[in-house]
Amino acid sequence: MLELKERDGLARICALKTRHGTVTTPALLPVVNPNQITISPKEMRERFGVQMLITNSYIIRTNSELKAEAEKKGVHELLGFDGPIMTDSGTFQSHVYGDVKIGYKEIVEFQASIGSDIGTILDVFSEPDFTRGQTEVAVDETLRRARESIGHKGDMLLAGTVQGGVYPELRERCAKELSRMEFDVHPIGGVVPLLESYRYADLAESILASKKGLDPSRPVHLFGAGHPMVFPLAVLLGCDMFDSASYAKYAREERMMYPTGTRFLRDLHDLACHCPACSRTSAEELKRMAVQERTRIIAEHNLHVCLQEIKKVRNAIHEQSIWELVEMRSRAHPALLEALKVLKKHKEYLERFEPASRRGAFFYCGPESYDRPTVSRYQQRFFERYRKTQTTVLVGFEESQKPYARTYHDVMEKVLRKVDASFIVASFFGPVPIELDEYYPIAQSVIPRELDGDVKDRMNKVMERHAHQHGYPLAVMWEGEETLKFLEEMVASDHPKQDLDLLRCRAVLDLQFGKGAGDILQSGKVKIVKSQTTGKIRNVLIDGQHVLSMRAPDGRFTLKPAGARLLMTKLPEPAMRVKTEDEPAEFAAKGNNVFAKFVVDCDPDIRPGDDVIVVNRKGELAAVGRALMNREEMLAFKRGVAVRVKDSPD
Ligand code: GUN
Ligand code: ZN
Repeated sequence: MLELKERDGLARICALKTRHGTVTTPALLPVVNPNQITISPKEMRERFGVQMLITNSYIIRTNSELKAEAEKKGVHELLGFDGPIMTDSGTFQSHVYGDVKIGYKEIVEFQASIGSDIGTILDVFSEPDFTRGQTEVAVDETLRRARESIGHKGDMLLAGTVQGGVYPELRERCAKELSRMEFDVHPIGGVVPLLESYRYADLAESILASKKGLDPSRPVHLFGAGHPMVFPLAVLLGCDMFDSASYAKYAREERMMYPTGTRFLRDLHDLACHCPACSRTSAEELKRMAVQERTRIIAEHNLHVCLQEIKKVRNAIHEQSIWELVEMRSRAHPALLEALKVLKKHKEYLERFEPASRRGAFFYCGPESYDRPTVSRYQQRFFERYRKTQTTVLVGFEESQKPYARTYHDVMEKVLRKVDASFIVASFFGPVPIELDEYYPIAQSVIPRELDGDVKDRMNKVMERHAHQHGYPLAVMWEGEETLKFLEEMVASDHPKQDLDLLRCRAVLDLQFGKGAGDILQSGKVKIVKSQTTGKIRNVLIDGQHVLSMRAPDGRFTLKPAGARLLMTKLPEPAMRVKTEDEPAEFAAKGNNVFAKFVVDCDPDIRPGDDVIVVNRKGELAAVGRALMNREEMLAFKRGVAVRVKDSPD
């Protein structure tokens, strides 16, 4: 079973429990061919830190010596590896060399009998160039075998492969049906031809379609993906495991793998790598070496680089910078860039998993950055949730130094001495009312002054949309003193009635929790406590009760129990609520976290990282805390925390 530990969208760090230990994902499982060992499993464990291996049960079964040994001692002793071992079924061999002679049930039973930790069904490989009809046949036969294989898994974990070729509807259907069965892992199969021919856009579509149909609590393995170039993208789309025979195959062809591509040794001047294998030699020396030794060193290098990239990906998830990593890596090959462009078609799906805010800043990496779900979410929430202020005049500013309220402080004062006005900045993310300037991702972003491609046009379109519907009688762009003179002539002088701190609280409440949330500020006497050093809002009290705290890093509110009570009066169920069984609700009220398995239902608009309200079956307040999952995940996961409880009513 999978337990979610950290995440950045669909990319996640999880613990996968097996009988031979727990594996941290994303993980790379090197392929070990017992007939052709390049790096021994023992070395993999000791020198490379490999957590888990994959081998082919079909190869073992068709070699009478290996078969006898595996049946006698088990696959772990056969390979000399005491960590978890996954086995494949022979689908690929059956596909390449014609029909596998043994039955699919026997194949599953054989894997269980040799002590495999994760076995695989004998799925039917669906080629990308199959017609729809052929693919349908492969999917239906895979599903039939899947259904009949489940009963033969014993206490082995079983992997049910998603097939469906390049037909997203077939992938999604296959994934949905497999999710209804008791599988423990879901490989995405039939993608090797896509990987081999750099069809990364089709690969991305295949992964996304599969993920959409899969139960989000099941680990996803990308079958045959062993090149570091694809790891960041595949992880961003929700893959947890990879297997690689490439490290050895490429080595035999004297090809060296890098996260940015592959190079023939003969074309290299320097190795330009600090892995332990390359540190011992040079390009010249390597070229002169005996073939066997050279192959071995290149294989070591390839494996080091693959494992290193997986670690890099895990760091990016921890830092929540997986989009940045993917966009940077997409410059390595036009096919990766093509794949990145596919993602904008799936923004709505990706947004459901997108964190409420991130540890680090939003880094602009190129025009594709504009298509990240963070951007579309801000725009959507602005247009749906933001409520205009009560002034006649709206003054617009150009994008500038952040936070905008500080940059434009003096200008705003000057304007406000003459007329009562509201202020808005034409930012990269869209229209930003001055009071939202510290809300994630506005202040937490690094955007170059010069933008590429059509980003400027796209930004202008969003501003135009705002211009058509903002509802202020008079709107002007700030162009210096002339604008001030113009405003004086146009409107009667008018004392400012608006309090920026109050506006900020209201706007953040509406964007963060839902339209209308800001009305809780009208339920009593509001006191805003600000930091003496930074001048930023720290706490909000209503009638003497602490209801909200504003977090400096992301400009969002942490909800206090008294604040939750007020929100519940303004936002009807299920808004921002996570409903649990009554007993876990009582536990939460005592300060314990809410486990996913106790969640009865929750607001479909909750996103990972949101501040949420934990309620019991009757909808009564139990606690407040931070959601670590969205609705579909809370309902699917059987392990792990859904809400980290922060506070509860006295
Ligand atoms: N290895 C590479 N691709 C596949 C696949 O589609 N199915 C199985 N079982 N193994 C694979
Ligand atoms: Zn190296």
